[in-house]
Amino acid sequence: MALTVRIGGDKPEASPESRSRQTPNFDRLAAPYRWMEYFSFGHALERCRFHFLPRLAARRRALVLGDGDGRFTARLLADHPEIHVHAIDASPTMLAALTRRVTDIHAAGRLTTELADLRRWPADEQPQPSPTAPDLIVTHFFLDCLTTDEVAALALRLRTLAAPGSIWLISEFAIPACGWMRPIAASLVAALYRAFRLLTGLDPQQLPDYPAALTRVGWQRLEHHPHLRGLLTSELWGFPRKT
Ligand SMILES: C[S@@+](CC[C@H](N)C(=O)[O-])C[C@H]1O[C@@H](n2cnc3c(N)ncnc32)[C@H](O)[C@@H]1O
Repeated sequence: MALTVRIGGDKPEASPESRSRQTPNFDRLAAPYRWMEYFSFGHALERCRFHFLPRLAARRRALVLGDGDGRFTARLLADHPEIHVHAIDASPTMLAALTRRVTDIHAAGRLTTELADLRRWPADEQPQPSPTAPDLIVTHFFLDCLTTDEVAALALRLRTLAAPGSIWLISEFAIPACGWMRPIAASLVAALYRAFRLLTGLDPQQLPDYPAALTRVGWQRLEHHPHLRGLLTSELWGFPRKT
């Protein structure tokens, strides 16, 4: 197991094993990523990312994690002129692509970026909320790069540092519980993991149980919308209860 989760103390922590695990390298995918996606899924992933976009108008400070080439960040900044984004990714080439895309729409003044492995972020073990705390967290097809325990550890840190009333926008692959899509989704997800291991060195080889991980540390699912018969999901999470 990559991380140790003390259920009793409700405090997931990174194990030394997880901390030493190699960061996947998405640099070489930055340029072809969009075309690989369109070729394999058409615009389905994009519809998934943008599904709840109109609902984010009241948000002012977004923390966008693992956004890759920045298509979502650029659209978020374009659609909501009052929002500021802090984007974090482990790939300098992806961050450069994201910055270019945002500069092209003249919104670079509302963007900050940070190069970091989100399994070891923030460096401060016990992050504190601040007046500039994010009120929106975004992860599109990023949690699937982590194990369930790594998601739980990240979700706990995010809950600590996010502003009260924050929401977390998530897009993910899913394997439906039953129906004809289930075996197709299972094979497709397995094939994607094999490809990403080959191309980036990604370690996990199965979808994390992120709903369980987030729920365990106090987040609650507010809404979800399935796409492609349950192969994809767009979700909004919040943490209405104080723990
Ligand atoms: C599968 S891509 C998803 C990109 C984009 N969010 C999307 O919707 O397609 C995963 C992204 O997360 C980044 N990433 C993967 N593991 C990471 C880690 N441990 N820390 C920070 N970024 C990571 C990769 O560099 C890449 O940009």
